[in-house]
Amino acid sequence: RLTQESPLYGLLSMATQFYQQSLKQHPARQAAVDYLKKRGISPQMVQAFALGFAPPGWDNLHKLVQADQAKQQSLIEAGLLVHNEGSGKRYDRFRDRLMFPIRDHSGRVIGFGGRVLGDDKPKYLNSPETALFHKSHELYGLYELRQKPGKLDEILVVEGYLDVIALAQAGLCNAVATLGTATSEQHIKRLLRLAPSILFCFDGDSAGRKAAWRALEAALPALFDGKRTRFLFLPDGEDPDSLVRLEGADAFRARIEEQSLSLTDYFFSRLQQEVNLSSLEGKAQLVNLALPLLQKIPSASLQVLMRQRLAQLSGLALEQLNQLAQPNLPAK
Ligand code: GTP
Ligand code: MN
Ligand code: MN
Ligand code: MN
Ligand code: MN
Repeated sequence: RLTQESPLYGLLSMATQFYQQSLKQHPARQAAVDYLKKRGISPQMVQAFALGFAPPGWDNLHKLVQADQAKQQSLIEAGLLVHNEGSGKRYDRFRDRLMFPIRDHSGRVIGFGGRVLGDDKPKYLNSPETALFHKSHELYGLYELRQKPGKLDEILVVEGYLDVIALAQAGLCNAVATLGTATSEQHIKRLLRLAPSILFCFDGDSAGRKAAWRALEAALPALFDGKRTRFLFLPDGEDPDSLVRLEGADAFRARIEEQSLSLTDYFFSRLQQEVNLSSLEGKAQLVNLALPLLQKIPSASLQVLMRQRLAQLSGLALEQLNQLAQPNLPAK
């Protein structure tokens, strides 16, 4: 694990500036400027999130370090240059893309996401895992969110870079995104140290609904006393970016307040959809699905209350349910 002295930081910062500069001056910049306009991203957000443009071409970044072998090597290690083993050639990883710098907790750029301006594939390209950049650990927008003074009541977890930015532009400055990976227990524990509550707000599509259940599973071991998570499901085809543009910040806030499901409500309603509670087999199945998950919850009071609800739904007495749960309540 590299330390503060790593030469990679300086090169990542140099690259960030190069991409920012290219968005302002490069002859090919117009396509990126038009794209930002089309997406409705304000100049303030371009500035706040240090957005940039990787120009078309294979060696824009490469050229900047051509004379320096050590820097070239570091740019490879930083994931910005690709070294082709077969041909021995080195070339820029990010070409003709809108660039989203990803910063660590202290604001240093550790990686990038890059979006195509058209319909090419892949839509997003992210930096590979490097000595500095660990996708399962980092969250896009976390540094920016922490720059805002004041108490954080809740952090929104969304899927995409542009969801974070559109929400911030609308005045909802408390969103972060995972970096194309599932929300991990590590992510959740990290966020629940900064705020008492997380709201998961994924896309209104099957991938988003799947991601929500996975987030629930990852959240269970992080549910200590005083911490909570909740879930907002969006209309089909919408994501936070499209929805906040469509209906505005106030309606989005109202949606959060009126439609969010607590973890417990989501947990039981989702499990009830999977089983047929009118049969004993279905009730047994509910218990078998729910108990192992409930046992992951460290808050003893929450776990007991959820067991009570499970007892009601299954028709088991709580004592019988507790006998089925082996081992018993986890030690605090
Ligand atoms: P826009 O089309 O720009 O609004 O993107 P989006 O964020 O709405 O994209 P989508 O809902 O399809 O995906 C959510 C997130 O998954 C993105 O922000 C990326 O982090 C990631 N993602 C999407 N497509 C790709 C891809 O092709 N490759 C990789 N590596 N990640 C992707
Ligand atoms: Mn870190
Ligand atoms: Mn999606
Ligand atoms: Mn989306
Ligand atoms: Mn989107």
